[in-house]
Amino acid sequence: MKKAFITGIAGQDGSYLSEYLLELGYEVHGMVRRNSVAENQQSRLNAVRLNPNFFAHYGDLTDQTSIERLLTEINPDEIYNLGAQSHVRVSFDVPQYTVQANALGVINMLEAYKRISPQAKFYQASSSEMFGLTVEDDGYQRETSVMNPVSPYGCAKVFGYNIVRHYRRAYNLHATNGILFNHESPRRGSNFVTNKVVKTACQIKLGLTDKLELGNMDSYRDWGHSKDYVRAMHKVINHDEADDFCISTMETHSVREMCDVVFKYLDLDYKDYVSQNPIYMRPEELPYLKGDSTKARTTLDWKPTYTFEEMMHEMCDHWLDVLQNIESTR
Ligand code: NAP
Ligand code: GDD
Repeated sequence: MKKAFITGIAGQDGSYLSEYLLELGYEVHGMVRRNSVAENQQSRLNAVRLNPNFFAHYGDLTDQTSIERLLTEINPDEIYNLGAQSHVRVSFDVPQYTVQANALGVINMLEAYKRISPQAKFYQASSSEMFGLTVEDDGYQRETSVMNPVSPYGCAKVFGYNIVRHYRRAYNLHATNGILFNHESPRRGSNFVTNKVVKTACQIKLGLTDKLELGNMDSYRDWGHSKDYVRAMHKVINHDEADDFCISTMETHSVREMCDVVFKYLDLDYKDYVSQNPIYMRPEELPYLKGDSTKARTTLDWKPTYTFEEMMHEMCDHWLDVLQNIESTR
């Protein structure tokens, strides 16, 4: 039985990756941070917490000793470093913490990996936010595109990406980067734009509120589904040669178009409810992402299964269900 160790297991991707690896027959160990919400209330892990092959351990990416202790105890075959302060807007408010978790956290992981379990394979959750302002002439970003980040989050992720490549070459480690474009799901944090729009639109539909305030509605993102993207992570880490791969749908939509898709599904017109509030604008914005994932599609035989519309509709159905259940228990 293969053993996987996942940081950020209580997050969107960590929870789906745990389910996927358990289905494949892995023993799954995950790092969780202590917080004020009891572990058994972290609902993303509901599907796995009682599985006998699932183990959650306390630790923190900023606490090197906790990482070393866990790698020594677990001795994993595959290490997925998904833990991060993952909100770009928040990274402008907490830049130093973002760098500690998203940049120094990676080197903490790599040092422990190199010393304690160098036989394992390593996956780093790199991000399309690293490309920042770069768009190639054909309208895409790809593995060879220049990294030109526009946020503390993006700058920290560029460090993580580069240090993984350095450890791969310098110490002959199987250390990989998945450069993932935006991916969403019903488990997405509700302060990311897709889930914020879906949740509020469903509240409007049910008469619980009558407005939605957003920041920049004219930015474009390449939005895929987290379930498809955790399959890609497993393919990236298990490719014979340690390498870097962009994972994307190869389509892009504006925030405005996304609002239109969501409100139309609920038989509403977003223009009647949505306004822009400068408090949601960023000090510097990344205006356009569209990823070229040809390398992953040809080398790893990966492709997404969800369409953009299917994903947004799934998120709407989820929130309608949640909100109606809350209402019926009042
Ligand atoms: P998420 O839902 O925010 O999950 C991130 C997880 O990291 C959370 O469980 C969080 O713990 C944990 N974490 C934060 N700081 C930590 C620390 N200091 N030590 C240990 N764990 C820590 O994010 P996600 O969407 O699943 O994304 C997973 C990874 O992929 C992140 O590294 C993100 O930056 C990267 N990424 C995401 C996307 C995307 O569109 N989703 C795209 C590209 C790259 P708590 O639950 O305790 O807060
Ligand atoms: N969050 C948020 N809230 N974003 C808004 C809002 C709002 O009210 N209004 C407009 N936006 C715009 C943002 O300015 C941005 O252009 C776009 O919606 C997407 O914002 P987010 O959903 O917060 O995602 P992100 O693109 O900044 O970052 C996500 O994707 C990265 C990959 O490119 C995160 O998942 C990162 O962790 C990930 O690396």
